[in-house]
Amino acid sequence: MLIAQISDTHVRADGTPLRGTIDTIAALDAALAALMALTPRPDVVLATGDLADDGRDADYHLLRERFGRLPMAVFVIPGNHDDRDAMRRVFAGSPMLPEADDGDGFLHYTVESEAVRLIGLDTVYPGEVWGGLCEERLTWLAGRLAAQPGARTLIFMHHPPFITGLHFLDLPFPGAGPLKAMIGASPQVELMVCGHFHRAIARRWAGTQAIVAPSTVYQMNLALAPGVGFRPTADPAGLALSLWPADDHPITYTVPVTAPGAVLP
Ligand SMILES: [Fe+2]
Repeated sequence: MLIAQISDTHVRADGTPLRGTIDTIAALDAALAALMALTPRPDVVLATGDLADDGRDADYHLLRERFGRLPMAVFVIPGNHDDRDAMRRVFAGSPMLPEADDGDGFLHYTVESEAVRLIGLDTVYPGEVWGGLCEERLTWLAGRLAAQPGARTLIFMHHPPFITGLHFLDLPFPGAGPLKAMIGASPQVELMVCGHFHRAIARRWAGTQAIVAPSTVYQMNLALAPGVGFRPTADPAGLALSLWPADDHPITYTVPVTAPGAVLP
């Protein structure tokens, strides 16, 4: 099974450029073209938040239309730039945003129909750049993990619950402690995939493999020195992939997207 991840598309359906220069729609189309050019084609696509730059209905309509062109299943979760109500309005009735089974208002859900069990988390605290998991969301996740302890599982979420080393955005993640304990006690969680940092990052956390996908728009600077602030860079956009051999742990890749429709050789 091959799982693709696109993140931080920051779509602006009205065409206004992001940071004054970036055509977010062209960037989305380039990423989807790169995804479609892969052989074999991914079986499923996860879109891990900051889907829209300003969380407008029109942005989600554009995303739903573009994702709807893809032959494989696509699943969406929110990031800090997204608006839950707008996402719910636009993706309502679409398999891209399955209904949570408990109707608690969070955009989290499980996907049981794929060869790998997928759990999408909603780490958003409206109005905040940082994310986390409150007691209610942690309890929901604990129940979902306990329901299928033997199923190989991928968790996808916008905000990484761990330190990345990029100091300017390494903000506290409420609930990180209990989440770490929960994942550490759930060896079926083979991979966690996140966004938010607009840069490819990989690390071990809570006994599992964790990655951050690059953004389809701009990439953030590699600010490893304390005190270095945020700056967008011209590093290539990209998407992330995980290959799940039937009898081995998942393997992850980053695929650069350099120009509309093109993938680096
Ligand atoms: Fe973002």
